[in-house]
Amino acid sequence: MVYRMQAVGRSHAKALAELHANCFAKGWNHLEFESFFERAGVFAGMAYGPDKKPVGFVLCWLIEDQCDLLSMGVLPEHRREGVGLVLLDYATHTARDMGAKAMTLEVNITNTAAQTLYQQQGFEKFSIRKDYYSHPDGSRADAVCMKKML
Ligand SMILES: CC(C)(COP(=O)(O)OP(=O)(O)OC[C@H]1O[C@@H](n2cnc3c(N)ncnc32)[C@H](O)[C@@H]1OP(=O)(O)O)[C@@H](O)C(=O)NCCC(=O)NCCS
Repeated sequence: MVYRMQAVGRSHAKALAELHANCFAKGWNHLEFESFFERAGVFAGMAYGPDKKPVGFVLCWLIEDQCDLLSMGVLPEHRREGVGLVLLDYATHTARDMGAKAMTLEVNITNTAAQTLYQQQGFEKFSIRKDYYSHPDGSRADAVCMKKML
């Protein structure tokens, strides 16, 4: 299937929150997405299927020449169709066009799907943040910090 990317901003906060809630156990609401867009250097993109419905999103924050990938997700029913690759490609190209020399991200150590995707796309682990994530059941998990030179 062919997925197309579109740059999105504050006016898409509700659509982003809806996608986020369908991708993560602990969703970010639209007010949180609105507040991200108040920060200089924040950019986001949404992936759309042929029927023009959004199927995934990516949110990044460029600070000087470093870009942090804050979040990305693909609706469960559209996973393993290459959308994650499209989102990551959009994020890295946009960041590079904006002057980024590197992209960093944190990923839950238990999230093998995302780690496989990032590693396949050239991200390398450089540190671990202990107990960085809290799960809805109260348990905690480490974050793996990854980086890719752009
Ligand atoms: C991680 C995520 C974004 C991947 O999206 P996706 O659209 O399914 O990824 P793609 O189809 O582009 O996969 C590209 C490659 O990544 C790897 N990959 C993706 N999902 C995988 C899985 N569940 N297990 C193992 N490898 C996986 C594979 O190498 C895959 O290539 P292949 O399908 O040819 O084997 C998606 O699983 C997701 O939204 N998860 C929940 C939210 C999340 O974890 N976000 C990332 C952390 S911020």
